[in-house]
Amino acid sequence: MLEELGKLHQEALSELSDANDEDTIRDLEVKYLGKKGALTALMKGMGKVAPELRPQVGQKANEVRSAVRERIDARRAELEALEIQRLLDDPHFDATLPALKPKAGSLHPVTLITEHIEDVFRAMGFYLLDYPEVETEEYNFEGLNIPATHPARDMQDTFWLNDGNLLRTHTSPGQVRAMAEYAPPFRAIFPGRVFRYESTDASHEHTFHQVEGLMIEKEISVANLIASMKTLISEVLERDVTIRLRPGYFPFVEPGFELDIQCQVCQGKGCSVCKQSGWLELLPCGIVHPNVLRFGGLDPEVWSGWAFGLGLSRLVMMKYQIEDIRHLMAGDIRFISQFRKG
Ligand code: PHE
Repeated sequence: MLEELGKLHQEALSELSDANDEDTIRDLEVKYLGKKGALTALMKGMGKVAPELRPQVGQKANEVRSAVRERIDARRAELEALEIQRLLDDPHFDATLPALKPKAGSLHPVTLITEHIEDVFRAMGFYLLDYPEVETEEYNFEGLNIPATHPARDMQDTFWLNDGNLLRTHTSPGQVRAMAEYAPPFRAIFPGRVFRYESTDASHEHTFHQVEGLMIEKEISVANLIASMKTLISEVLERDVTIRLRPGYFPFVEPGFELDIQCQVCQGKGCSVCKQSGWLELLPCGIVHPNVLRFGGLDPEVWSGWAFGLGLSRLVMMKYQIEDIRHLMAGDIRFISQFRKG
């Protein structure tokens, strides 16, 4: 046994001297010292060793184990030193250059705003929900009181899929999904990407972001809606902004409103973002239509609600004074990496 241990030791050392890369060293490490390695295998024969010799054999085994271990570590260090020397010998290598700084990532401005809004609403007891980007016609239109013949379908040009489904044109289908899913009363927001088949310009993009909000209660009034929207705007924009409220038509709310804010890019003077009007449509909202409540399985005699659909992309543009919405989805890293938290 002692002899075999000695042999194993010698073999390991000689193989290690020939090992010239990390892979080989690792293989040898497993081969000799691994759980199923040579040393362990050998020690399984301990039972056959005469009892008086066992302490000696055990000690030798330990010696071999640590000697091989040391040799492995030493061989690794040697190879590393060689590699450094090779770099230093390379005429193109300049050891005096500063080390490369690891790059810190940054979040997309839409992500930053979304996270902020999520924080604001979570603190007010809203659920944070996530619904599919591929929707059925039923949820995107019918359930929202927009039947096939309804002219409102033309308001939102749709990307249809071959299977008859579509890319959601707004986050509103989540209203019906949430009503079907949660017992009232409840409040929830659902942020996400939406898609419209339309030509792009400084303020239109085929893919953009919205956050839908929905509150279902027993008695909800327009006053309650307006107060909530005011809180929302000031919390989210973290400043006082001049707003105005106009009646707005959406089949799934009645009454419906358009909440505009003064354009923060031009301070109301008129620019390409606000189409020279000085105002920006930011927050369409309204009292949930009884048909929508019904479709969501709620009795309109008992339950009422308000909903809003915040244009996230526009909000980002306002917050960071971005003059062209197309920057947001263009994926230009120089643009995206400018935004940091705070
Ligand atoms: N879904 C509407 C849109 O995208 C916005 C909206 C949401 C309006 C909720 C009223 C209530 O244009």
